[in-house]
Amino acid sequence: MTNYTVVEGQSQEQAAVRSRVSALMVIFGASGDLAKRKLLPALYSLYHKGLLPKGFSVLGYARSEYDDESFRERAREGIEAYGDVEVIEKEWAEFAQGLFYVSGGYDDTADFEKLRDRIGEIDQIRTTDNNRLFYLATPPAVYQSVATQLGNVNLVGPVNDNCWTRLVVEKPFGHDLPSAHKLNEHLLGIFDEDQIYRIDHYLGKETVQNILFFRFANGIFEPIWNRNYVDNVQITVAETIGVEERGGYYDKSGALRDMAQNHMMQLVSLVAMEAPVAFDAKAVRDQKVNLLRSIRPLKPEEVPHYTVRAQYRAGKAGKEDLINYWDEDGVEENSTTETYVAWKLEIDNWRWNGVPFYLRTGKGMARKVSEITITFRRVPHMVFQNGDGTEHVSRNILTIRIQPNEGIHLKINAKQPGPAIHMQPVDMEFNYGSSFGGDPPDAYQRLILDVILGDSTLFTRRDEVEIAWDRVTRVQEGWRLQEAQEIEENGRPLRLPTYTAGTWGPKESDAMLAADSQGWREPDGRH
Ligand code: NDP
Ligand code: BG6
Repeated sequence: MTNYTVVEGQSQEQAAVRSRVSALMVIFGASGDLAKRKLLPALYSLYHKGLLPKGFSVLGYARSEYDDESFRERAREGIEAYGDVEVIEKEWAEFAQGLFYVSGGYDDTADFEKLRDRIGEIDQIRTTDNNRLFYLATPPAVYQSVATQLGNVNLVGPVNDNCWTRLVVEKPFGHDLPSAHKLNEHLLGIFDEDQIYRIDHYLGKETVQNILFFRFANGIFEPIWNRNYVDNVQITVAETIGVEERGGYYDKSGALRDMAQNHMMQLVSLVAMEAPVAFDAKAVRDQKVNLLRSIRPLKPEEVPHYTVRAQYRAGKAGKEDLINYWDEDGVEENSTTETYVAWKLEIDNWRWNGVPFYLRTGKGMARKVSEITITFRRVPHMVFQNGDGTEHVSRNILTIRIQPNEGIHLKINAKQPGPAIHMQPVDMEFNYGSSFGGDPPDAYQRLILDVILGDSTLFTRRDEVEIAWDRVTRVQEGWRLQEAQEIEENGRPLRLPTYTAGTWGPKESDAMLAADSQGWREPDGRH
């Protein structure tokens, strides 16, 4: 892992170190949403903070007809609408000089020859150091043909021994284990593993990275971070939005594949993994893979006991007025795609045996919040009784808040002031905003910078993505079996549980935890 963070006011020396390597970033699908909302704003912010190498350039590539000038205008619109820094005219003029565009298809060698020629021209007029960063920001259906064409026109190997060529692959990486495996095989037939950077933007979030620092830079937590002290772990990644304009994509994916396979599996692995021997890509990813392997694989018939899936029905979620999922554009009538999933994981290793990990994620939920709560066991013998003779005492709960209000809280019991014995849970808090000032930078800034620096610690390795898909594909197989049984036994398609948009999910999910004498913790800790 690199020894810097992407923050305002970073020292000039660090920026200078970074200025040693420059590159040309080619964005495939540059006319799309991701480029406009995330990539170009992240690049401008990096430039504004002095964190882009001198001469760093961007070449947009897509079928849409833009030229350099109109692509720059589009980039500016995106930066103004979605960026986290104000556009300053002088800086913009310099930044825009490094933006270029060439149009072409994704499976036509002649178009890729045109692309190669344009790259050569830009190498001549800008200081790119002949390093190439190819970013796949198209729908996944064209990832393989882009990689093939890059191979066909000899753009895969570095220009010389002092240069590099890297490939960034967006999510989703496959839609099940066989397709992820096939994509890996295809890409690895053209690129080497150390050239490939599979993005999971959760790993670029500062608070997600902080999980490792919290656990392994402090001596006091690891001794209690195990089955002897921890009762259960809950991970909630809730969104208020519905499927928005992505109904077509989402209905083929669902919450399990859209969020659990990638972002939530990453959170589980960071919270539960063993300490790496060093903070480098191999050591960290080895431990994450070990942990993912320890997640008990489910047999199809076990899946209904370990998972709950549901769909939202019309309601107000935060500021969003959502219609029934079934009525969203792009969603099939009678769709059985889940907009909510809860999943109980068992981890079969010495550290975690018997400690349930409860995961839930959904669209159209009560609030946008991502957090991990670790609930510790009760004290073995309670010597204090409340004034009314009850022994009620809250358990210690550690909450890692990923977003919003990023921070870490520990709930402890304290005596209320006064002569009577009254216990009250109080919070010990670390708040990212008050400790470091301001909001953490967008994940894409950190991740793009790491690709430029060649640090793959925060990217998913081939075996990591496949083992995560293995566990998820087993759940999908269980669901298919459940659907087939419903048709066989009752002659009709399975009806998923539902929840009203703006709530915390279906009652079936509460029942799954109640069966373990547990309950979901409300994310603000009031539960
Ligand atoms: P878009 O649907 O906006 O597609 C990007 C570009 O790809 C389009 O402008 C279009 O360019 C081209 N394209 C679209 N459909 C096809 C197709 N069927 N065949 C060939 N080319 C096509 O996608 P996004 O920008 O939203 O996302 C890009 C990638 O990033 C996807 O894999 C997505 O899953 C992932 N992603 C996106 C996020 C986001 O916030 N948008 C967040 C996380 C991941 P043209 O027609 O000009 O060639
Ligand atoms: C993306 C999913 O990966 O993550 C989206 O495809 C989801 O459906 C998004 O909305 C959530 O990301 P964040 O950073 O807003 O929690």
